[in-house]
Amino acid sequence: MKSLPAAIVLLVCPIISIAQDSGGSGPDFEGRYEFRSNHDPNGIGKFYMDREIAQVMGFAGAGWLERKTREQEERLSLMVRSLKLKAGDVVADIGAGSGVISMLMAQQILPRGKVMAVDIQNEMLLRLRRRSRRAGIRNIKPVKGTIKSPNLKPESVDLAIMVDVYHEFEFPYEMMLGVSRATKIGGRVVLVEYRMEDPTVPIKLVHKMTEEQAIKELRQPEFSLKWTETVNVLPWQHILVFTKQKSGT
Ligand SMILES: C[S@@+](CC[C@H](N)C(=O)[O-])C[C@H]1O[C@@H](n2cnc3c(N)ncnc32)[C@H](O)[C@@H]1O
Repeated sequence: MKSLPAAIVLLVCPIISIAQDSGGSGPDFEGRYEFRSNHDPNGIGKFYMDREIAQVMGFAGAGWLERKTREQEERLSLMVRSLKLKAGDVVADIGAGSGVISMLMAQQILPRGKVMAVDIQNEMLLRLRRRSRRAGIRNIKPVKGTIKSPNLKPESVDLAIMVDVYHEFEFPYEMMLGVSRATKIGGRVVLVEYRMEDPTVPIKLVHKMTEEQAIKELRQPEFSLKWTETVNVLPWQHILVFTKQKSGT
C-alpha cells in the first residue's frame, strides 16, 4: 500500500483538547489570552498575540510521529546535527511525545549527557520509556510536565528544544517562563516550527508559525531570551535559536 501524504495523515491524527472553557468570547482574566467563537476548527479558540493555539496531538498520534517517512520528509537527523550538541550536555526535549527526537539527541551527548524528556501525557511518556529501553538508550529521563510548567529545576539545562510543540502550548507565556528559567545563562532555547511562510508545507495552518510571530512571542523581557539565528536547512520547518541572557541585559 502506498503511504498517505503527511498532510492527510496529520488531518486524521487524533487530537485532544484540554482547553479550559472560557465561557464565551473575550479576553481572559489577566488579559493575556483572548477567546474567539469564530475560529479554525483545528484550533482551541484561544488566541495569544493574535495567533490561535492549536489542539494538542493525542497519544493515539504517536504512530504518525514515528512514521518511517518522517526522516525523509523532515530530515530529523540533519536537524539534530545542526544543533551541534556536545558530550555532557543536558538537553530538555519539551513536548517529547513518544521520544523520536529525544532518542536521536541522546546519542549525541554521551558520555554523561542526558535528555530530560518532558510531556503532559502519561501515555506518551510510557511509550517513550518503552521505546528507549528497547533501543538500549539509558540517558533519557521522562518528566511529567503540566500545561503551565515543564517541571524542571532552575538553570539546569544547556539546551531546551520544542519540535512541533510550541504552537500547541495552551499557556505559551507561562510555559516559556518555565522553559527560560530552566535554561542556564548562555544556554539555548530552540523552536522547530512548520514554516507558515511556505504554502507548500503540507501541514494544517494552526500547526504552522511564521518566523516573525515566533520571535515576537519570545521577545518578552521576563524570558531573557535573545533571538540569535534561524537555521533554514529543513524542507518543512525553520529552526529558531534563542540564547538565554543574564536578566537585565
Ligand atoms: C506534535 S507532538 C510532537 C512530539 C515530538 N516533539 C516529536 O516531534 O516527535 C506534541 C507533543 O507536545 C506535548 N505537549 C503539548 N503541550 C505541552 C506542554 N504544555 N508541556 C509539555 N508537553 C506538551 C503533547 O502532549 C505532544 O506529545
